[in-house]
Amino acid sequence: MSELVFPAGFLWGTAVSAHQTEGGNSNSDWWEWELRPGTPCAEPSGTAIDQYNRYESDVALLAGLGFNTYRFSVEWARVEPSEGVFDETQLEHYRRMVGAVRKNKLVPMVTLNHFTLPSWVAKKGGWLADATPALFERYVRRVVEALGDSVDWYNPINEAGVVAFGGYMGGLGFPPGTHGLANWKRAAQGLIAGHKRARVAIKELRPSARVGQVHSMQEWEANAGGRAAMEYARRNSEDIYLEASRDDDYVGVNTYSRVLLEMPRLAGWPAKVALAVGPIERFVVARMVAGRASGGFAVDPRPGIRRTQMGYEFRPEAVAATVRRVAELLPGKPIVVAEHGVATNDDAERIEFITGGLKALHPLIGEGIPLRGYVHWSAFDNFEWNLGYSMKFGLIAVDRETQERRPKPSARFLGEVARTNKLIVPDFDADTRDVASGVHETC
Ligand code: BGC
Repeated sequence: MSELVFPAGFLWGTAVSAHQTEGGNSNSDWWEWELRPGTPCAEPSGTAIDQYNRYESDVALLAGLGFNTYRFSVEWARVEPSEGVFDETQLEHYRRMVGAVRKNKLVPMVTLNHFTLPSWVAKKGGWLADATPALFERYVRRVVEALGDSVDWYNPINEAGVVAFGGYMGGLGFPPGTHGLANWKRAAQGLIAGHKRARVAIKELRPSARVGQVHSMQEWEANAGGRAAMEYARRNSEDIYLEASRDDDYVGVNTYSRVLLEMPRLAGWPAKVALAVGPIERFVVARMVAGRASGGFAVDPRPGIRRTQMGYEFRPEAVAATVRRVAELLPGKPIVVAEHGVATNDDAERIEFITGGLKALHPLIGEGIPLRGYVHWSAFDNFEWNLGYSMKFGLIAVDRETQERRPKPSARFLGEVARTNKLIVPDFDADTRDVASGVHETC
């Protein structure tokens, strides 16, 4: 039996988002999307897991399990229900929520936009509209003013790359459901502009707060034929956003799996040429989207591989590849794993997934990569966007009839890792290193 000890002050958390857990987010684009005729959504979010009303007992439960961090989001659609009208009772709600998190000795890690938009912003064109970055900044200012100095970790926009690809390229069936390259690229620019404006605003109001983007990242692999397509996909779904993180205080990494792009050898250089030429680029990208419509790039077509409920390859260690890549692209930038998790009905698999991820991450700290924390997706089983409630990502099960919470063995397992700041690995055969004395500067 071996012990993997993590540095003092390591953030051990769980994550959720407002729309996926609060319930009744009826003033948002997603709510309308879920209910519209012909919706691609399996079911509506409805009351979700009623975290809007149950946050106090939820955060107490998480603290009792051993965690020290809670990542959640503030809902723009509630705070600014119509243009320029800010609802003080909603701001007060989030102030109280942050208060409850802190009272339970959890570090609040606050996302200001997790996929959803107020309906009125969506009607203007969402992230395609020129006005949206400035509107977002105005909302961010109000929230940061309201939360005062009780929040030290902000993430303005969760996974801008997923929003642009999923909603505007038509890659995931997210709202607003536009298609095509021009929309994809335009939305990406809007999201990046929104992030940058929000960062400047937060730093102006709270210079000591840490502000960072949270990126959806894959471990990528390709054969010679698939290399050009891989580089294209990675550039447009990750790199352009990572470049916009250069001035951030930290980088959040969300990783669930690996993507393998295998194409016939001949596709290598012709694909490179093709992707450099506008109309051909459109054609190749349309093929990429069509082939992977249900899970973006992440659904692996290989037969016979071990998969999660989402169809992704079961590959917990992918997170170490993405953290390493961020460390290479942005040397010295503090990194937080802001999401890592697995959809499964078999909770033993979740423990295996967490163990695999942490075992792969631990040596990176010893190498000097400034990894500051591990936040698991998700605290609770919740609304998995267009796939509804069937995807079980939670450490804690929720009976949606009674809203009763039942921690699974994985919740106790990861909670214990968090409480003791170490992972006990039975029959551990690789090199063991205590990285408790590793790089410690705070970010
Ligand atoms: C998102 C979450 C989502 C999770 C699992 C991430 O891309 O931030 O909202 O539930 O992945 O699919």
